[in-house]
Amino acid sequence: MQILPATASSHAADMDWLFAALVGTSGFILLLVFGLMITFCVRYRANSKVERGNRLGRTWRLEAAWTAATFAAFLALYFWGADLYIRIHRPPPDATDVYVVGKQWMWKIEHAGGQREIDSLHVPVGRPVRLVLTSQDVIHDFAIPAFRIRQDAVPGRYETLWFTPTEVGEYPLYCAEFCGTYHARMGGSVVVMEPSDFQRWLDGQGAGPSLAQEGEALFRQYGCSGCHGAASTVHAPRLEGLFGRPVPLEGGGTVIADDRYIRDSILLPRSEIAAGYPPVMPSFAGQIGEDELLKLVAYIKSLADRTAGNTEAGPPAGGKQAGPPAGSAEKDAR
Ligand code: CUA
Repeated sequence: MQILPATASSHAADMDWLFAALVGTSGFILLLVFGLMITFCVRYRANSKVERGNRLGRTWRLEAAWTAATFAAFLALYFWGADLYIRIHRPPPDATDVYVVGKQWMWKIEHAGGQREIDSLHVPVGRPVRLVLTSQDVIHDFAIPAFRIRQDAVPGRYETLWFTPTEVGEYPLYCAEFCGTYHARMGGSVVVMEPSDFQRWLDGQGAGPSLAQEGEALFRQYGCSGCHGAASTVHAPRLEGLFGRPVPLEGGGTVIADDRYIRDSILLPRSEIAAGYPPVMPSFAGQIGEDELLKLVAYIKSLADRTAGNTEAGPPAGGKQAGPPAGSAEKDAR
């Protein structure tokens, strides 16, 4: 009989060691405390003929040593756990992005190439995968026991975590946060494939537009290009070369232009205003769904390698019409 689920990711062994250490340390202390308690209860019960005159004096040394030792042991476990937690949330730079949106009661998954799936996740073995996770309604929790990962999907936030699958196979995927009537049915499976099979799977999903291309279409549809586009006369920040760079803010400080920053800028444009720009951007809260936000973020991310006013930098996944025509953008470029 198998007690633990399969171990199929790069984090699994680390997580199991931590789990074993926690259970081991807690179990040892539990046995020690209860063992002594029961031993003394029995040995010194009323009417037992045991010698009671040999009481020790005050034993503060023992007390201090015992307290310090347990404190040190659990503090060590804390640092061990914190280190692992941080590593799981810091994806390596070469990780492939997969976007996950939780919704009552399904997981909607989108690959960077625009391939979509519901309640299943296909990933290649041996390659790091970065998940960007959010929810469209209530709090869900994306859990893959075989990978030893679990992360809440919270409305209004992007959570990132990553893993490298290490074993080809199919593993269950769950929602691990009670989220309504059909919470128990909200799940599916993760399919880990050989990279060549995975590529074939991706190709077999039909050649639709990539996430970034869909984002570009939305960028025009919602009128973003009216201000952020090259031809605009509005003094709005250029988005080429923005992603992943620090942005100086009005009133001091900087933020890194990551997924979260882009999303918040669309929904809560007044919260972090780029220094030197008037706060004229309207909020799109309530108008753009999470799926569409992910596409817009993917589009802006695809502009990361471009510089404002330079079309020759070569469009990546994006599309034909992306870069601004040369010339007009210099005055707004930072
Ligand atoms: Cu979604 Cu439980």
